[in-house]
Amino acid sequence: LRSERFSPGEDFGQFVNLRDGWIDRNIFSDPDIYQEELHRIFARSWNFVAHESQLPNAGDFLTTYMGEDAVIVSRHRDNSIRVFANSCPHRGNKVCFADAGNTRRFVCNYHGWSFDNAGELSGMWAEQAYDEGDIDKSQTKMMPVAQVASYKGLVFATFDPDAPSLENWLGDFRWYLDMILDNEEGGTEFVGGCIKSEFSANWKFGVENFIGDAYHAGWTHDSGTRATTGGAPFPEIDMETSYHASINGHGWEFGTEGVGDIGLLGSPEVMDYYNKIRPKMAERLGEMRSKIFGSVASCSLFPNISFLPGISTFRVWLPKGPEAFELRTWVLVNKAMPDELKQEITKRVMLTFGPGGLFEMDDGENWSNCTTVNRGVATRRQLLHYGSGINRRIDNHPILPGTVYRGQYNDSNQRLFYQRWVDLMETKSLKDLPQRPEPRMASRETRELTGVSAI
Ligand code: FES
Ligand code: FE
Repeated sequence: LRSERFSPGEDFGQFVNLRDGWIDRNIFSDPDIYQEELHRIFARSWNFVAHESQLPNAGDFLTTYMGEDAVIVSRHRDNSIRVFANSCPHRGNKVCFADAGNTRRFVCNYHGWSFDNAGELSGMWAEQAYDEGDIDKSQTKMMPVAQVASYKGLVFATFDPDAPSLENWLGDFRWYLDMILDNEEGGTEFVGGCIKSEFSANWKFGVENFIGDAYHAGWTHDSGTRATTGGAPFPEIDMETSYHASINGHGWEFGTEGVGDIGLLGSPEVMDYYNKIRPKMAERLGEMRSKIFGSVASCSLFPNISFLPGISTFRVWLPKGPEAFELRTWVLVNKAMPDELKQEITKRVMLTFGPGGLFEMDDGENWSNCTTVNRGVATRRQLLHYGSGINRRIDNHPILPGTVYRGQYNDSNQRLFYQRWVDLMETKSLKDLPQRPEPRMASRETRELTGVSAI
């Protein structure tokens, strides 16, 4: 499937000009570039595969994808989480067709080989077909990933033994992530099941929208906002007190004066809850982060994970070809919340960002049209403009880690996402992947960042 067009070390920077702020439209539809993304990005990155709350007991499993590679994520009897290709080492058949469940064995439909919770070959139908020496069972297993690790409930895996540790991959972005994952004692969980939907659009449009496109919200979602808030328009963004921050291609856009997203849910109960825990949150995370948490905000983790703080939708954009992706979404809540509130949040997430949600439908149509129209052979000659706020960088913000730009109407997180895209597309070995920017954890509100565990 790989073409001869791109040799190792190819200049992918030709598609992305960060200094002047433009992007080449070919990256949204070119099938060869898409194949290289699968090899160079998805087969090497830390991919989100599960929340620990989905696999509480030994034998629990779920199935998902890393790029287009089908995988099983399984809780082993030794309590570790194992991730291996959902493909039989005999003829390659898909072994597990369930979305999730609990089992001791995965049995292949084709010739009846069976595998344990670590993907090891544990049984063979009509084993007499094999003479001694025909098969080394210990080497004939469902292919395991190279590394698995978790950060405060989120489980990630990579096929690349040379990938930097998850701690390095996330870098100081953990300072922002902790607002979601560690704002209250007890951490988080997914409630309800997974919602899958399919879009005819390039996967990067979903990611770049959530990484920092507050700009579209007041326009695209104006009618949806009025419908859910009883007529109130989308909250106005204060450009002086709002920011974009990017670390290693992950990005968060937010205000620091605490208005917005939570209000969008239109639920006084949810707002009351957050306001009640805010003083404790300030003790835990510092004053600044307790205020950021209540603002209009959204974020993405490189390469394909997004979250809306306040609205509580957690999602991965799974690539299915250059012009298609499958969106998987869950509702992420604090474990300590009362059950009625978790139900209320779930209802509000469905109203806004489920497949029938008011905002999801607005977004999907835009992304789909961007993808198909960018494909036009003549249209592709024109570059796309990503220059908003290009001169608003703030060097050495006293508190906020990362590369920080002032103003939520800004393309900076998108530009830096595409810079990371170039890093991954060009780097021969992930051992050489740069930290962007250099870690800078001097802030007085920044405590020691820990929490990554090998599993
Ligand atoms: Fe799975 Fe043959 S393909 S047992
Ligand atoms: Fe949107």
